[in-house]
Amino acid sequence: MNWGMKNRISRIIKPKTGRCVMLAVDHGYFQGPTTGLANLGNTVEPLLPYADALMITRGAVRNWIDPAVEIPIILRVSGGQSILKELSNEIITTNVEDAIRINASAITCSAYIGGEHEKETIGNLSKLVDEGEKYGIPVLAVTAVGKEMARDARYLALASRICVEIGAHMIKTYYTEDFKKVVEACGNIPVVIAGGKKLPEKEALQMSCDAVAEGAIGVDMGRNIFQSDCPVGMIRAVRAIVHDGKSVDEAYEIYEHSK
Ligand code: R5P
Repeated sequence: MNWGMKNRISRIIKPKTGRCVMLAVDHGYFQGPTTGLANLGNTVEPLLPYADALMITRGAVRNWIDPAVEIPIILRVSGGQSILKELSNEIITTNVEDAIRINASAITCSAYIGGEHEKETIGNLSKLVDEGEKYGIPVLAVTAVGKEMARDARYLALASRICVEIGAHMIKTYYTEDFKKVVEACGNIPVVIAGGKKLPEKEALQMSCDAVAEGAIGVDMGRNIFQSDCPVGMIRAVRAIVHDGKSVDEAYEIYEHSK
């Protein structure tokens, strides 16, 4: 791995703990003004001190994020579909030069393994890995599940391993029973979990705790943070689990106390 690649990964995955709390706010690229993100800037601003990286599109970063912030940007560079149509029909929407202009610390796209446009999304990932390797920019592959695909360990291990084989430098997937098998399928490539749909806070904390215990290096969480009744409390609680090894009860106490 070249120096630039290593340096960018170290900005995202904190060397002190080997862990990471990514804040995902890229939902608008296929969902439009997602609940909690209508005014993305107002939502994200108080959360930035507690996030290790921000997953976001180029349009959102330019519109709502102050360029003076220090947070590493994980730039969502795929899109081209919407919740109104077939979700796997993605293209690459942002070239690597624009990612460099934004000073992205990583670039990201989704792979829809088993989806109607599986091959095209693997092609997108492959192209990003080629560009990322050329410029020293790591690629986070998202194992998207589409509307109907099961999120069991067998499927997620298959999807994650394919992304690893294509050359992804980090994997974002979903937590499931037997999650250890998903992590094992990724070898030495770091794995983070998405939060998925909004859960009660304690359940989302339990999921984060279980994921880390089973080998994830952290989370790339969106709705379970910004749709919480106390987003700052929730991200602080997730952070306490990921970086400080706090228990679910201790983390929940942080959330409750922040409320
Ligand atoms: C989906 O493909 C997007 O990348 C979201 O950012 C991702 O699902 C993480 O957000 P959430 O925790 O809300 O699922």
